[in-house]
Amino acid sequence: MSERKTKIAVFVSGGGTNLQALIDKQKSGVISSGEIKLVISSSKDAYAIKRAEKAGIPCEVVSRKECDTQQEFEKKIRSLLDEYGIELIVLAGFMCILSESFTSKYPKRIVNVHPSLIPSFCGKGYYGLKVHEAALAYGVKVTGATVHFVNEIPDGGEIIMQKAVEVSDGDTPETLQKRVMVNAEWIILPQAVEKVSAQLLEK
Ligand code: GAR
Repeated sequence: MSERKTKIAVFVSGGGTNLQALIDKQKSGVISSGEIKLVISSSKDAYAIKRAEKAGIPCEVVSRKECDTQQEFEKKIRSLLDEYGIELIVLAGFMCILSESFTSKYPKRIVNVHPSLIPSFCGKGYYGLKVHEAALAYGVKVTGATVHFVNEIPDGGEIIMQKAVEVSDGDTPETLQKRVMVNAEWIILPQAVEKVSAQLLEK
């Protein structure tokens, strides 16, 4: 008898280290209530695509630039999600905006990892290294990562998990980004995905 699992799609745009953490934690059993069925990349050059291929996960490229409108972009994504029967979407370094008309169709079924302790250094314009540049410029001594549900407010959905990371003297945006990834993102994203996948199985 095959065990039922929540069908997951992971959306990526770049290096895909968070995707890799999800793949590894699925293999090791930390994620057991869900299964990654599809990866969607917003860029054909994303290294994340190679990670998906290596893991044998179907990967589709949907480029915003190649779509005339946001509506067309989201329509393409939605038809892929329907085709694969996706029940949970994980934004793992996905650098495109999703409109309210998209997010409202998946209430509490889209999660995002953000590289700060929300509500600090989040919202419009805060993504990737920019977040760590802002944290260093402010001079905070503690930062971290947040996994949250996605709604119509950028980085404004309900928080699922957070983990703090200390800032070190002499940190650069790059060294801080790496520490936040290793000590927070790659740990709490798989844990949160397992938690939400298990909750969705009960629905
Ligand atoms: C990660 O640090 C992720 O938290 C961040 O981009 C990086 C992607 O790295 N996401 C955001 O800033 C979203 N607002 P990855 O491609 O190696 O996972």
